[in-house]
Amino acid sequence: MTSNKTIFLTGSAGFIGFHMSKLLLDLGFIVVGLDGMTDYYEVSLKKDRNKILEEYNNYKFYQGMLEDEKLLNEIFKKHDPSIIIHLAAQAGVRYSIENPKSYLKSNLIGTFNILEMSKKSKVDHLLISSTSSVYGSNKTMPFSENQKSDTPMSFYAATKKSNEVMSHSYSYIFEIPVTVFRFFTVYGPWGRPDMALYKFTKSILDDKEISIYNNGDMKRDFTYVSDIVKSISLLIEKIPNVVSKRFESVTNDSISDVAPWRLINIGNSKPTNLMDYVSELELCLGKKAKKKFLGMQMGDIKETFSDVRLLESLTKFKPNTNIKYGIKNFVNWYMDYYNER
Ligand SMILES: NC(=O)c1ccc[n+]([C@@H]2O[C@H](COP(=O)([O-])OP(=O)(O)OC[C@H]3O[C@@H](n4cnc5c(N)ncnc54)[C@H](O)[C@@H]3O)[C@@H](O)[C@H]2O)c1
Repeated sequence: MTSNKTIFLTGSAGFIGFHMSKLLLDLGFIVVGLDGMTDYYEVSLKKDRNKILEEYNNYKFYQGMLEDEKLLNEIFKKHDPSIIIHLAAQAGVRYSIENPKSYLKSNLIGTFNILEMSKKSKVDHLLISSTSSVYGSNKTMPFSENQKSDTPMSFYAATKKSNEVMSHSYSYIFEIPVTVFRFFTVYGPWGRPDMALYKFTKSILDDKEISIYNNGDMKRDFTYVSDIVKSISLLIEKIPNVVSKRFESVTNDSISDVAPWRLINIGNSKPTNLMDYVSELELCLGKKAKKKFLGMQMGDIKETFSDVRLLESLTKFKPNTNIKYGIKNFVNWYMDYYNER
């Protein structure tokens, strides 16, 4: 796929936003990135990701917040994007217990502003990130898009679920085609310092203890970042359309009955035991972890497992990177990046 379309991408200096932007730039899209470079985790990592993107002629970066309506208006007036990929958010389950207001501002007000911009500029397709955390206390595995998801167990999940339903209303009223993704624990090079793989790697190398919650009795559907961004790139062209619903045979479709709006899981569909993930990391680092076993953390869920029949049916692609390869790539990146300084 090649294209010279203009994509407005929020959170472009973030973990997934960086990989997404890079893939789109390589495919020839014009990417207009926005990132507030928030200090939730080390800003230098965001700046270093952005430096790589700024080497592309087809990349234009704006540093600013989603809450800044004036800036958004200026960007849209200048670049008139036809596609929006909205990845900027206050992420993280645990931090939402300490600092819920940050989620309110970035995820609710920020996403509201993106919906308003989509309405005003009549974009061809708005793609928004949500999370597997919205499945909350659901017990039926794998998690499928058509299950109820009304029992979030963290404020983070509650704001993401709100984004899903907010976008449905805008899609219905203003006929904006919207695709919402639910990502399952994403990992890979340039990953987030607040996430397990990064924290474990750092602690093991520094001879510090790693905290293993729920005494290790957890499963995550760890999904490699390249699989996430490849899936999104294939979904850009899969514009939801209520009329086509009657003619297409899409497996397990979640498309709305009344709006051009669709929800879609992007996950590996192969849950891994947390302890197996740690063992694989120990193997890659050639060093054993000092493990501290703890109880379940507030807001966390015990297991995630994605049903990806819809993704596969729409794109003919299924995430397939195994943790052996994925963790090795992360460790190689981590060593290169931190040994360089
Ligand atoms: N990484 C995962 O495992 C995972 C899982 C499920 C969902 N998600 C979702 O995917 C998206 C990307 O996540 P990520 O892992 O790349 O996180 P990230 O924190 O690395 O990236 C988010 C970026 O958004 C920016 N940002 C935050 N609030 C902003 C605001 N108000 N205005 C402008 N910029 C702002 C941050 O500076 C950051 O660079 C998020 O919406 C997140 O909720 C991620």
